[in-house]
Amino acid sequence: MGTTICEYQPGLANVPAAESGISFIDGDNSILEYRGIAIEELAKKSTFLETAYLLIWGHFPTKDELDTFENDILHHRRIKYRIRDMMKCFPESGHPMDALQTSAAALGLFYSRRALDNPEYIRAAVVRLLAKIPTMVAAFHLMRKGNDPIQPNDDLDYATNFLYMLTERMPDPLAARILDVCLILHAEHTMNASTFSARVTASTLTDPYAVIASAVGTLAGPLHGGANEEVLLMLEEIGSVKNVAAYVDKCLANKQKIMGFGHRVWRVKDPRAILLQDLAKQLFEKTGHDEYYDVAVALEEAVTERLGEKKIYPNVDFYSGLVYRKMGIPSDLFTPIFAIARVAGWLAHWKEQLVENRIFRPTQIYTGNHNSPYIPIEEREFTK
Ligand code: SDX
Repeated sequence: MGTTICEYQPGLANVPAAESGISFIDGDNSILEYRGIAIEELAKKSTFLETAYLLIWGHFPTKDELDTFENDILHHRRIKYRIRDMMKCFPESGHPMDALQTSAAALGLFYSRRALDNPEYIRAAVVRLLAKIPTMVAAFHLMRKGNDPIQPNDDLDYATNFLYMLTERMPDPLAARILDVCLILHAEHTMNASTFSARVTASTLTDPYAVIASAVGTLAGPLHGGANEEVLLMLEEIGSVKNVAAYVDKCLANKQKIMGFGHRVWRVKDPRAILLQDLAKQLFEKTGHDEYYDVAVALEEAVTERLGEKKIYPNVDFYSGLVYRKMGIPSDLFTPIFAIARVAGWLAHWKEQLVENRIFRPTQIYTGNHNSPYIPIEEREFTK
């Protein structure tokens, strides 16, 4: 029996769960790097698929490598009609994150051969998951409205094709580029809850579809990726700048968390929030202002005034919804879009976990009784 090596830390705060070379955060100095490259550089100069390649394979692709990767993804975007028919049976009122988790897991039924020591198997799973997840998100959205899903368009790049499949229209090029940058910004973020979930699942040597399905389920919660949807609902509830101060005071009095604020690692405003705020402004310049942006800015000011001392600032989920809303995307698809991006990070961690795998099996501190008697049912007293 092993010995316990450190004190219990609720939420495993500050406890390393892996050695990783994928991304790095300096939460005091506003630094986020993917494979050593600053997020600001990638947002300016890269594309989502190039960034995904970098995260997953550990180096920038050459021109040939990128062409092959993009082509492979292009040719695997379609989903099998049985998956589409399965999704057709999902209730229209179901949340798209639940639909995505179920569909991602279902991929494992169709590609069930598991060969984790075969590089070709790994490559094919990476391509398949990156290619099919956006198609599944868009297909569920159209089918819940009673429409047939739109087939992927081979002439369109990753982000443009996703918006096309979702909205049934050719998107504005600026909106497509902004979405691609959003995907870069959400692609990876060290040992967050969903990535931890992916690594724990990976450590059992199960298939990659189960790994991604478990991560999608974890991302969905309102304390994690689900917060981007909650932020927009909150901005709608506040309604106007004049109501902001009273809203914040009410939340603080009721010990209620303000969505899109705070972070386990960031002690400054999340650099991704700074970049997303800028993307929102770029989009508004072209397509018109959004009144909720003013509410968001006033909310940031009010929260910073009251909670800045505790180092509570906007996180990645605060401004992203305003960008997606301006693109005409419904709020319950914001978290699935986060998932489309984060698949890149989850796959990078899946691959890394397999290199020197040891199954995750932490310990616990038992707080229950010992040697308790069995009480016959007729003698049991009602306990609350
Ligand atoms: C994501 O980890 C990642 O990297 C995640 C992510 C990624 O890219 O993968 O960045 C994506 O999940 C972003 C976070 C989205 N969630 C939210 O916006 C929900 C609102 N935020 C919080 O619930 C909270 O800040 C968390 C969940 C993000 C972090 O939780 P922690 O680290 O456990 O912090 P905590 O809840 O223990 O809070 C510490 C203190 C408390 O005050 P005290 O009791 O010490 O006086 O800060 C306060 C909290 O009350 N606080 C907040 C607050 N967040 C923290 N107070 C009001 N509103 C908030 N949002």
